[in-house]
Amino acid sequence: MQIPTVTLNSGHRMPVAGYGTWPLQGRAATDAVLAALAAGYRLVDTAASYGNEDAVGAAVRESGLPRAELFVTTKLRGSDQGRGSTRAALEASLERLGLDYVDLYLIHWPLPAVGRYTDSYAEMADLHREGLIRTLGVSNFLPEHIAAVVAETGIVPAVDQLQVSPSHARAGLVAAVRGGGTVVQAWSPLERNTGVLGNAGIVAAADRLGVTPAQVVLRWLVQRGLTVVPHSSDPGRQRANADLFGFELTGEDMTAVDSVAQLPVKQDPATWEEF
Ligand SMILES: NC(=O)c1ccc[n+]([C@@H]2O[C@H](COP(=O)([O-])OP(=O)(O)OC[C@H]3O[C@@H](n4cnc5c(N)ncnc54)[C@H](OP(=O)(O)O)[C@@H]3O)[C@@H](O)[C@H]2O)c1
Repeated sequence: MQIPTVTLNSGHRMPVAGYGTWPLQGRAATDAVLAALAAGYRLVDTAASYGNEDAVGAAVRESGLPRAELFVTTKLRGSDQGRGSTRAALEASLERLGLDYVDLYLIHWPLPAVGRYTDSYAEMADLHREGLIRTLGVSNFLPEHIAAVVAETGIVPAVDQLQVSPSHARAGLVAAVRGGGTVVQAWSPLERNTGVLGNAGIVAAADRLGVTPAQVVLRWLVQRGLTVVPHSSDPGRQRANADLFGFELTGEDMTAVDSVAQLPVKQDPATWEEF
């Protein structure tokens, strides 16, 4: 399975669909990443706070795939934000991953009340110039947070990883972030299988197309111009979740997903704190 790529503002190419590794750890995480790589995923999404960078690194080594074919994303946790600590955090992540660079480094949450995200991003820009980070990105950043890091460094984040899914379509936020030249990558795109995959309109579209409801949801995100990082621990669901490029949703299918009742996000980036 060949997953298409999008060219980022760094000049590097990122797969449109990647494999999310939370909440797996240890050998289970390594085995799941190996299965995902065997299915055709090339982007692996981890984070310092997931406690599985070592397991992801083991899978990268055991896969035998050339490093250049892989796209590894990790994230700066809140407790490591700031000048000096950002460099140390990235170096520790690289050590756990067993890699000498990451393809994409994200600030996990802006934590505006802490007030260190612009300093963190400025230090990431240094690490980018040194070659330890191929592409700079952010996660859970609202447009005002992106504007602040651009004002500090002149570098537009290539990617903003945001919670986007049928019940949290966030059309205005997505349009604003994309309008500034940042690719949006949807986290929890399947809403952790808490109900939306049983939505009647989504199930009807899936039945007509001969795909799963999860594929309809992920394809809806891709057709809106987003990229996705679904997680599954099951090799069959992993494969289906990346098999999004051999079918297309009609306008009616898109409207059916657009019509899902909207819910507020529980983790509002303006106030959410995790370290
Ligand atoms: N930047 C951030 O702040 C942030 C926050 C949260 C997550 N993330 C990233 O985003 C990734 C994805 O988000 P997520 O893991 O929270 O949620 P998700 O991908 O929306 O959902 C994963 C859940 O859905 C189930 N599932 C997967 N495929 C399915 C299918 N085809 N049919 C039915 N159920 C299916 C999985 O169960 P099985 O394992 O049994 O298949 C798992 O319980 C994470 O792994 C992580 O890498 C980032």
